[in-house]
Amino acid sequence: FDHLRSSVSARIMSSSNLVEKGKETAAFAAVDKHVEDGMILGIGSGSTIVYAVTRLAERVRKEGLKIVCIPTSFQAQQLIVTNNLTLGSLDTTPELDCAIDGADEVDDKLTLIKGGGGCQTQEKIVASCARKLVIVADSTKNSTSLGQQYKKIPVEVIPLAYNPILQRITQQFGGTAELRMGKMKAGPIVSDNGNFIVDWFFPTGIEDWKTVNERIKMMPGVVETGLFVDMAQIAYFGGPDGSLSVK
Ligand code: 5RP
Repeated sequence: FDHLRSSVSARIMSSSNLVEKGKETAAFAAVDKHVEDGMILGIGSGSTIVYAVTRLAERVRKEGLKIVCIPTSFQAQQLIVTNNLTLGSLDTTPELDCAIDGADEVDDKLTLIKGGGGCQTQEKIVASCARKLVIVADSTKNSTSLGQQYKKIPVEVIPLAYNPILQRITQQFGGTAELRMGKMKAGPIVSDNGNFIVDWFFPTGIEDWKTVNERIKMMPGVVETGLFVDMAQIAYFGGPDGSLSVK
């Protein structure tokens, strides 16, 4: 039995290593292609972005690039600082050359689901200030239409409004919705902005994500959704074998 257990855990370990390889491949390729000396860059959030920041730091050290990094979350800010990159803010630089960010799913029109880490509000603000939004992800995030890989859309809400919003979203669009809870369900997850996150498990068959996004955003108490429509220009996906695809 012990033998079986260690072979199963070895297989799980190696499949997660392959996903990590894909993240690294995508992030390194995007940084090498899109980052140039003198740029103001938006730094996204999540685990794939860690590889992008690692590569940025390497290029700054080796090539002496001068770049300013604008964070999309507390995590991104810590990454920038601990990698000795120059931290900027939208207060001083509201126009960015490029933002690099991860995604939970990317369809063929480059519509994104983001916010797996609950950072979509700042991510969308920073992306909206950038001339170009470049997405980096492992190949499991690459879909023809949303819902093939990822089943939920995160919505950041003012705490007072979470219950009416749960009800309105499911009444208007179907599916189910729940308040995102922390570990052990001891309390709700609180975003970097002090708000709650509602996860909407959407039904199949939705195509007009722009209208869905606009209608959810009109609900009083909604701060931002994790639907990014017509925002990304290009997406890099890394495969488990070190391959790269771009769309
Ligand atoms: C955080 C995000 C992330 O970019 C998204 O969840 C992807 O994360 P990862 O790179 O860990 O797969 O939107 O709010």
